[in-house]
Amino acid sequence: MEPIIELKNVTKKFGGITALDSASLHVDKGEVVGLIGDNGAGKSTLIKTLVGVYKPDNGEIIIKGKKVNNWNTKKAREAKIETVFQDRALTPQQSIVWNIFMGKELRHPFGFIKVKEQIKEANKIIREIGFTSNLIDANSPVGNLSGGERQGVAIARAIYNDADLIILDEPTTALSLIETQKVFDFVNNVKAKGRSVLFIGHNIFHVFDISDRFIILDRGQVIHKLDKNDVKTPEELIKVMKDTVIGGKN
Ligand SMILES: Nc1ncnc2c1ncn2[C@@H]1O[C@H](COP(=O)(O)OP(=O)(O)OP(=O)(O)O)[C@@H](O)[C@H]1O
Ligand SMILES: [Mg+2]
Repeated sequence: MEPIIELKNVTKKFGGITALDSASLHVDKGEVVGLIGDNGAGKSTLIKTLVGVYKPDNGEIIIKGKKVNNWNTKKAREAKIETVFQDRALTPQQSIVWNIFMGKELRHPFGFIKVKEQIKEANKIIREIGFTSNLIDANSPVGNLSGGERQGVAIARAIYNDADLIILDEPTTALSLIETQKVFDFVNNVKAKGRSVLFIGHNIFHVFDISDRFIILDRGQVIHKLDKNDVKTPEELIKVMKDTVIGGKN
């Protein structure tokens, strides 16, 4: 199978700090990949490079088999890669439908927003990803939703943009167990539709539960690529990290 995205020997330096050190990885269609590593390991730098926020100093970015040049955020969007950053993404005073369509509204030829169509589409997407409560629909204000449900709205927006790869940066860090489970349900539904997810997290138990595979970063280097046959429990994954991750600032 051809990966939908691939990084080959990507290096990114900030002054004297090597945030990414010849890192290589790929994500296949329909898989959930967990990206883990200590503080400062390079996780955020890796995803920001992948979505074109940072330009790598070296290495290749390959999208659906083609090496790309002058990679930037616009091209990443066009390649159907969407990132859900914690908190920053949503406007709580506005409704779910408003937040999903923000900046990409469906419009009539004279510019008026197709209100009914948008509501219909938003309801379809939120049901598809796993909003089950009758109390929540496209018109509900995002401010009334729980933390996990807000992540769901951000994921719904990525689905509306027809993302092939959704990158979730620490989506469960601030959430309770039940809310985390909601986010997992959303992610599993996204995966069931053949979309891919890159899941970044500090909590190994969370990352373990939701991921098919794991990539461990340490001081900018990919030090392990494991799948669930290699590590059968979160404890085993933690042990691998304890035994091999050096951590600390470089
Ligand atoms: N814009 C920047 N300018 C300078 N140094 C940076 C910048 N972004 C990251 N770094 C440095 O690069 C290294 C990797 O940082 P990065 O934020 O990618 O780590 P991380 O794995 O996301 O950490 P965390 O788990 O704390 O979010 C760190 O040493 C960090 O201080
Ligand atoms: Mg980070």
